[in-house]
Amino acid sequence: MSGSVFIDGVWRAGAGPEAVSVDPTTGEIIWRQAVADGADVVDAVAAARRAFPAWADRPRDERIAILRRYKEVLTARTADYAQALSRETGKALWETKAELGSMAGKVDASIKAYEERTGEHENAMVFGRAVLRHRPHGVMAVLGPFNFPGHLPNGHIVPALLAGDTVVFKPSEETPLAGQLLVEALEAAGVPAGVVNLVQGGRAVGQALIDQEIDGLLFTGSAAAGAFFRRHFADRPDVILALELGGNNPLVVWDAGDAEAVAALVVQSAFITTGQRCSCARRLIVSDDAAGRAVIDAVAALAERLVIGPWNGGEEPFMGPLISDRAAAMALAGANAMGGRTVRAMAPVDGLSKAFVSPGLVEVTGLEIPDEELFAPLLQVRRVASFDEAIAAANATRYGLSAGLISNETAHWEHFLRRIRAGVVNWNRPTTGAAGTMPFGGLGTSGNHRPSAYYAADYCAYPVASFEAASVSDTLGDIKGLRA
Ligand code: NAD
Ligand code: SIN
Repeated sequence: MSGSVFIDGVWRAGAGPEAVSVDPTTGEIIWRQAVADGADVVDAVAAARRAFPAWADRPRDERIAILRRYKEVLTARTADYAQALSRETGKALWETKAELGSMAGKVDASIKAYEERTGEHENAMVFGRAVLRHRPHGVMAVLGPFNFPGHLPNGHIVPALLAGDTVVFKPSEETPLAGQLLVEALEAAGVPAGVVNLVQGGRAVGQALIDQEIDGLLFTGSAAAGAFFRRHFADRPDVILALELGGNNPLVVWDAGDAEAVAALVVQSAFITTGQRCSCARRLIVSDDAAGRAVIDAVAALAERLVIGPWNGGEEPFMGPLISDRAAAMALAGANAMGGRTVRAMAPVDGLSKAFVSPGLVEVTGLEIPDEELFAPLLQVRRVASFDEAIAAANATRYGLSAGLISNETAHWEHFLRRIRAGVVNWNRPTTGAAGTMPFGGLGTSGNHRPSAYYAADYCAYPVASFEAASVSDTLGDIKGLRA
């Protein structure tokens, strides 16, 4: 391939300004291209529009066959792609290999979801049959985030293609290489020209894309951008909006026993992917007693043992850097502004690039903390007097993505499940537990009730109900109140 845009099956240089992708581990530039301008975006949407009727009309088995080839390509390229993703994001290789696995796994999960949740279903009727079919919307714009730059856009693109939609994809400006590799794999799988188009660039390119005549915006990213898109499309109810946004996720520990076992779940909830998962726990809520204090101490002690380092160094890391030096500087400033009592500082790491920070723990009991997502490995801890207070504290957010309870008491779990407001609610599992075979999405500021993952099938096609008789029969007798 050559170029940053892929339109109508052709790679070419974008007509916009030059942009780079920087390896956060080393500061090295690993991708440099002229990105798209507004005219490229117009071309990309036009190509997707032209390709739509033939792609939608193609027998579903043929679309499935192409996506199965895509899965094979991803599987064959996993080692190379995982290294590229680690280089571009700094994530550990075990994580990027898992990301590639999720991308390949998405194909079969989406085929099953399409059949189960959409597809075609019929019932016999006295006159013939009632048939429920699903039709694709048209041209879908996909805007991807940087934290899972393959898995998350893939989670929109695969079900959209399966349903018969065509796609214009703009990856995050932080991870253009990952976006390019995804599209190269689709190209290698034989996706026809115009069915998937790529435009690289930042927000201006995203803005140019949403200003076109698109039929849907499938977005994974920040709540602020999600709110902007809601306003932008307020007068366009015909445009499908699937908004997968951030969270300020609570994790409650109550009557949970062994503090070390609890700490292992907390650390995996809060610090995995250097805190750069939308589903990471940001707020730990514990009992205001010796058991609660033991959990705080155990989390701080376990955080101390986590290997923080480069993905390709001698020792396998638990976590790498944040996405950039800038993200680290912003996270450190955000932590400073938060206040509270530092239990363990989130701080730069000696001997590593400025993008690396250590996991932090800050006690905020009795303090009002702004209800914001800090996309970094910083966990707030709050001590409360009762389980009901813990649930109230957990729900004290405008977000509602993931939430967790760590407890050995089934009655606590049943009560928690009834009261907590979130789209992913886990028990004695990390808040980051998610699967392609389940829906994934949030309430409140975390989304718009169009969850992704298994339920992505729902927003990629619309239902059509038909009542059908194969020939004209005399229904005169059905008309009531008819004169002889
Ligand atoms: P972001 O919102 O900054 O950017 C995401 C994409 O949208 C990028 O491609 C960006 O260029 C584009 N974009 C952003 N604002 C835009 C605008 N005004 N107009 C046009 N395009 C715009 O998000 P990010 O920093 O890349 O990702 C991190 C965020 O994503 C976090 O808030 C995280 O919680 C969230 N996230 C959510 C989920 C989920 O499934 N709910 C999953 C992963 C990440
Ligand atoms: C995330 O937590 O950022 C994404 C979770 C997933 O889809 O696995």
